[in-house]
Amino acid sequence: MSNRVQIAPSILSADFANLGSAARLAADAGADWVHVDVMDGHFVPNLTIGPGTVRALKRLTSVPLDVHLMVDNPAEQVPWYLDAGADLITFHLEACVHVNRLVQVIHDGGRKVGIALNPATPVGFLDDIVTDLDLILLMSVNPGFGGQRYLPGAAKRVQDALRMCRDRQVSPLIEVDGGITVDTAPLVTSQGANVLVAGSAIYGAGDPSRALHDIRAAGERGLEVKA
Ligand code: DX5
Ligand code: ZN
Repeated sequence: MSNRVQIAPSILSADFANLGSAARLAADAGADWVHVDVMDGHFVPNLTIGPGTVRALKRLTSVPLDVHLMVDNPAEQVPWYLDAGADLITFHLEACVHVNRLVQVIHDGGRKVGIALNPATPVGFLDDIVTDLDLILLMSVNPGFGGQRYLPGAAKRVQDALRMCRDRQVSPLIEVDGGITVDTAPLVTSQGANVLVAGSAIYGAGDPSRALHDIRAAGERGLEVKA
């Protein structure tokens, strides 16, 4: 059974010379996903991981890989990540022209699909596609780097997303990414977020495993506020 608040540690904040141990650490700590940030140096001003690394991670962990594509023209690259073994592929609405087609390609590949929104993209832009999604990813920082400060508007956006999903009678996962800590986790889970990405708050901690548990516990406390 999955946790009430799922945690997806972002290996962006791990030691890139030891990504294997970062993924193992996530698995041992009970992570629900391993969040893999793919950046192309165009859509965002940073360059990170490619399909070869995803393939290698897939070989060494059974924790599902949550691949967050921050790339221009994701339609061109999605096949690489299907082939590499990504379990969930999330692309940015801002980068994609033929959205329904790409959602279909990912589902036809037998994987889950998410769409990500930058902090200034209206949540309502997903209204006509949300019934086809497994996950909505709301960025709570402008994508590109780990360790940025949580943008407070994210909580209201989670609320908007939840309302949109209820209106459409669907319940995709609602994931929040950027600046998630023990302090910010309850702000978004109380509004309906159920997957939290955390990079620097986990891999930058003295005890990453403990940090993961603390963030999940803080997120679950937020659920009580909601109830
Ligand atoms: C930002 C990435 C995030 C990032 C989060 O562009 O999408 O996944 O790793 O890192 P923290 O938790 O440090 O904000
Ligand atoms: Zn991410």
